[in-house]
Amino acid sequence: MRVRAIVLAAGKGTRMKSATPKVLHELCGRPMLWYVLRALRDAGVDEMVVVTNDDLQLRIEEFGVRGIVQREQLGTGHAVQVALRELPHEPGSRIVIAYGDMPLVHDEIFCGIVGSLQSQNGSPALAMVTVKMPLPSNFGRVIRKGHDVERIVEARDATPAQLEVDEMNAGIYAYDETALREAVGRLTNDNAQGEYYLTDTIADFVQSGKRVVPVMAGDHLHVLGINDRVELAIARKEMNKRLCAQYMREGVTIIDPDTTYVEPELEIGRDTVIYPNSTIGRLSRIGERCVIGPNARLSNATLADRVTVRESVISDSSVGSDVHIGPFAHLRSETVLAEKVHIGNFVEVKNSKLAEHVKAGHLTYLGDAEIGPNANIGAGTITCNYDGIRKNKTKIGRNAFIGSNTSLIAPVTVGDDALTGASAVVTKDVPAGERVAGNPARALPKK
Ligand code: UD1
Ligand code: MG
Repeated sequence: MRVRAIVLAAGKGTRMKSATPKVLHELCGRPMLWYVLRALRDAGVDEMVVVTNDDLQLRIEEFGVRGIVQREQLGTGHAVQVALRELPHEPGSRIVIAYGDMPLVHDEIFCGIVGSLQSQNGSPALAMVTVKMPLPSNFGRVIRKGHDVERIVEARDATPAQLEVDEMNAGIYAYDETALREAVGRLTNDNAQGEYYLTDTIADFVQSGKRVVPVMAGDHLHVLGINDRVELAIARKEMNKRLCAQYMREGVTIIDPDTTYVEPELEIGRDTVIYPNSTIGRLSRIGERCVIGPNARLSNATLADRVTVRESVISDSSVGSDVHIGPFAHLRSETVLAEKVHIGNFVEVKNSKLAEHVKAGHLTYLGDAEIGPNANIGAGTITCNYDGIRKNKTKIGRNAFIGSNTSLIAPVTVGDDALTGASAVVTKDVPAGERVAGNPARALPKK
């Protein structure tokens, strides 16, 4: 039995008060729509389409799904009409409908309703998810007659008595395709918002004697529809908690999940320990037995095993094994550190390659530099890489000793085993083995 999914995401999202389409607002590094589509994929649906608006359509390709534009947002029922016009009629097939604003949804919920639609006798027209929720709530109320669902009343159309009902429409449905096409064709917009409500299909089915199967979800958080930034913050907290739990189950120690901020699809090796107030994002990969934080921020960072990063920021960089970074260091723009490098307090490294055992312990800027193995970079060393027009390279050879407060006026090369004295201003290349000092730096007599 083929199952197709329609995800509704064209709504204006007025309650977000934002220039960004609602479902593109992010939690834990991904737009909310991304999570809904992932859950549907994990549930094994055969095909998905997203109902978009013009702004969202511009970005839909990055989600790997087809977008169908709903030019005017006339309600959830209208959005489904627009989608069905584009989908070939496949009698007997199932259509799952979900809203793109519920990022906490699990694949099991989708499997559950598709299963309920299939396994029930009497070929129901619809299986839908309902959920008990604390009041007050803006969700649509599930009005029952005895055990059976009779209709859904939107909060804005509800009477005070109906608002007391604490069973809500989650906004997740599995329809028999033919029944859905017929019912959405009959929708009217005679309600408080002047919209075509998808939820009116339920009363339509009940009136025409078709069966509606309610499936109650266990936890209302799982179906939280995000309408404003307060709800987005609630969902973000929950998502972060789940992701931290997942990484902990995979063998990572997270000292305080409440102040550790992660994303899906990170790689973090076993026995790595993450201290509080750390953020790990943008597809970072971290090896085994690393120590991250407190107060670390990693973005697109690749760390090998046994790396320590304290109170530091690393973006778009890769770090070899047994490296120590921080406290208070900043690595950025394709920096590559080989194994056993030491980067200490107040050191910034940009677009540079440091070979194994290089030490830059204090107060240093290394930009556009290439540094050979075992070189020692003294406190206060600056690569003066920018001449006002271009960025120039600094090369430092193996075992070189750069004295404290050296300024390296790039482009410049300091040879293997060379030495610069404290406060040297190096304006010319220093040959291998030579010792220079002064401003401008000149060769010292051989020892
Ligand atoms: C909807 C349900 C409500 C349910 C709640 C669960 C309807 C009429 N109401 O209310 O019963 O309890 O979700 O979260 O369905 N959308 C479009 N095109 C439109 C209008 C909306 O694509 O013309 C999309 C939105 O982008 C959104 C989803 O449909 O992703 C739901 O719309 P929203 O306005 O958030 O509906 P709710 O008021 O939350
Ligand atoms: Mg909503």
